[in-house]
Amino acid sequence: MWKLSIRSFAVLLLVMFSAPSVLWAGDDGFAEKIIGSQCSNCHRFEGKPKSKFKLKAPDLMWSGVKYQRPWLIRWLMGQEDNLYPNSYRWDKSRFSPKHMISTREEATVLAEYMEKTYRDPRIKKSFVDMSTFTEMEASLGADIFREYSCLGCHQLKDDEGNKMGGPISVDLFDAGNRYTLDWWSRFAENPQDFTPHSGEYLADISLRKARHIIGYLMTLGVKDFKFHEPWNSKAFKNADAKRGAQVYKEYCVQCHGPKGKGDGPGAKGLDPKPAVHADLPLSDYPEDYLYNLIFYGGKSVGKSPNMPDWGLTLPEQSLADVIAYVRSTFKGQ
Ligand code: HEC
Ligand code: HEC
Ligand code: HEC
Repeated sequence: MWKLSIRSFAVLLLVMFSAPSVLWAGDDGFAEKIIGSQCSNCHRFEGKPKSKFKLKAPDLMWSGVKYQRPWLIRWLMGQEDNLYPNSYRWDKSRFSPKHMISTREEATVLAEYMEKTYRDPRIKKSFVDMSTFTEMEASLGADIFREYSCLGCHQLKDDEGNKMGGPISVDLFDAGNRYTLDWWSRFAENPQDFTPHSGEYLADISLRKARHIIGYLMTLGVKDFKFHEPWNSKAFKNADAKRGAQVYKEYCVQCHGPKGKGDGPGAKGLDPKPAVHADLPLSDYPEDYLYNLIFYGGKSVGKSPNMPDWGLTLPEQSLADVIAYVRSTFKGQ
């Protein structure tokens, strides 16, 4: 009797102490087992990047920082379409087989495990701040997507939802729901650091354009993406027309003339001529229009490229100030 109760006490203790750690190791152990016995048949989770022509499936060494968790879970549950329209190894097959499917519980455990395990020290916080990303920047990003051949290899969707573009690599019409900003920014810096000798492409673009194309992709597929509106920012609330007059003198008079008559020394030889501000009701022009025209230049709003883009030259406050100046000075005839 006495002996028995000691023994059952000891058994109880053992269960109490081991139960939480068994559960804890259980999730990780479960994920490790699935990854080791199933996922690793096709994917690599460690080692150096290799050509896709030596792989069976995309490398997942950095998968813990590449995907947004809800997307990864949907992917593992088989709720997402294949990313490679021609199959990942298009040299072997043109048919993309359906990916293996996990239950929601399994997918959640796997995603959590991947997130904490497969990290990549090369991936730092992105230089792009999406909270200041504007609609005009997204449209410049869309232009880059065409001008720099991205559409030649990656598909998007047109306004009717039809796929367009070349199907050689991943679809990107839902990129904003799939990638983390940090991974995609680092990948964009040099794709060969991740997918060498795979047909990948490095575009020759400035940091500012990189922001446009990176940010643009992060808006793709995102419902009601909230764009930043600089004309509603603090700089605009604090705009000062007097300070703006000085900016006008330093940067605009050269073409538009001291009284906005379009007769600055720089006007000679220009066609079309610099606008005659004195004749225009700039007071009634929408602030977003003036902002985009001055920040991104004439070509961004369908005007002459001889009207420069001042976004790199003028800080936000000077831009706000010069807009306040032209709106309070030029009211039409
Ligand atoms: C039979 C081979 C195979 C197995 C097993 C497999 N995968 Fe895949 N996986 C693929 C292929 C091929 C693709 C690319 C499919 C496509 O998008 O067209 C892929 C794509 C993925 C992607 C998206 C990759 C990208 O392009 O960014 C993730 C994440 C992924 N698999 C995770 C897993 C995990 C986790 C497991 C184990 C639970 C697993 N896979 C098991 C072959 C496999
Ligand atoms: C000549 C074809 C080609 C062009 C042009 C091209 N890419 Fe790619 N891209 C690839 C290949 C190949 C990969 C590696 C993934 C793979 O195996 O398909 C890749 C990878 C990517 C990825 C990461 C995909 C993933 O999930 O791992 C992104 C994002 C991407 N490209 C964006 C772009 C952008 C933006 C442009 C234009 C500046 C561009 N690509 C131009 C072929 C191309
Ligand atoms: C290199 C010459 C040049 C300089 C410098 C210049 N502009 Fe212009 N600007 C132009 C030209 C040319 C046009 C006419 C574009 C057209 O009609 O296609 C124009 C047009 C405009 C318009 C009228 C747009 C419209 O919708 O009609 C505004 C407003 C304007 N500029 C503001 C400015 C401001 C503010 C500055 C200084 C920060 C400035 N510009 C500096 C050449 C210049």
